[in-house]
Amino acid sequence: MADDRGIEDRLAIAKTICDSPPRVHPNAPNGAVWRTGWRCYEFIASQISPGDRTLETGTGVSTVMFTAWGCEHLSIVPSEFQANVIIAYCHEMDIATENLRFDLRPSETALPGLVGGPEFDLVFIDGAHGFPLPVIDWYYGAGLLRRGGVVVFDDVKLPAVRQLLESYLDRDDRWQMIGGTAVWRAYRRLSEGPLDSDELLQPFFQIGQTGGLGPIRRLLADVVPPALRERLRRS
Ligand SMILES: C[S@@+](CC[C@H](N)C(=O)[O-])C[C@H]1O[C@@H](n2cnc3c(N)ncnc32)[C@H](O)[C@@H]1O
Repeated sequence: MADDRGIEDRLAIAKTICDSPPRVHPNAPNGAVWRTGWRCYEFIASQISPGDRTLETGTGVSTVMFTAWGCEHLSIVPSEFQANVIIAYCHEMDIATENLRFDLRPSETALPGLVGGPEFDLVFIDGAHGFPLPVIDWYYGAGLLRRGGVVVFDDVKLPAVRQLLESYLDRDDRWQMIGGTAVWRAYRRLSEGPLDSDELLQPFFQIGQTGGLGPIRRLLADVVPPALRERLRRS
């Protein structure tokens, strides 16, 4: 199935998978899969190329897409049942699985073990959504992104994700928002290496500043000269 001739092929593959998804999450309202909006998959399809190294927390139709698109893909999900459903579905759909790997541990346990290993081109954070798990997934997962790589968050309305984005990523010049809807959001990484960062490098991170002003602040920061910005910060 992975005869990739570009974005059109990738979208056709994604549509086939969405039209007839694997029954990987039988408790989902549709009886098959907890998936995100079509535009998120469309966006991810526009960001990857065959051979890219991709990582996701959780599994679902996204896993099948990364695999069918020819990515070297790692899905971290603590469910052998779900992994087996995805592999069986790939076989049924004639999707090669040599480049698909599962780590069957919770992401908060598995991800720290990847530190120091090869970098990724794209990381999709869509595993556990309770605080602080999306933050842990971002810290370790997006910490493995190459400079210029992309992190995509699903369920950005949920507090643990929203808090991270509004209080931190939206304000940090080391991340550039490059896409999203009310459901998901994507950022390009403009730095490299682990994401630990001294508080002196986080003047933008302040208590009481959440509430959706992040993108506006970033826009203003882009038009206000750095010297004036520094004066304003000190005043
Ligand atoms: C919303 S679903 C993922 C949907 C998938 N991204 C898609 O687009 O079809 C969330 C997934 O996260 C998994 N999950 C739950 N807790 C997790 C954890 N601690 N670490 C990794 N995955 C987890 C669930 O089992 C489920 O597979």
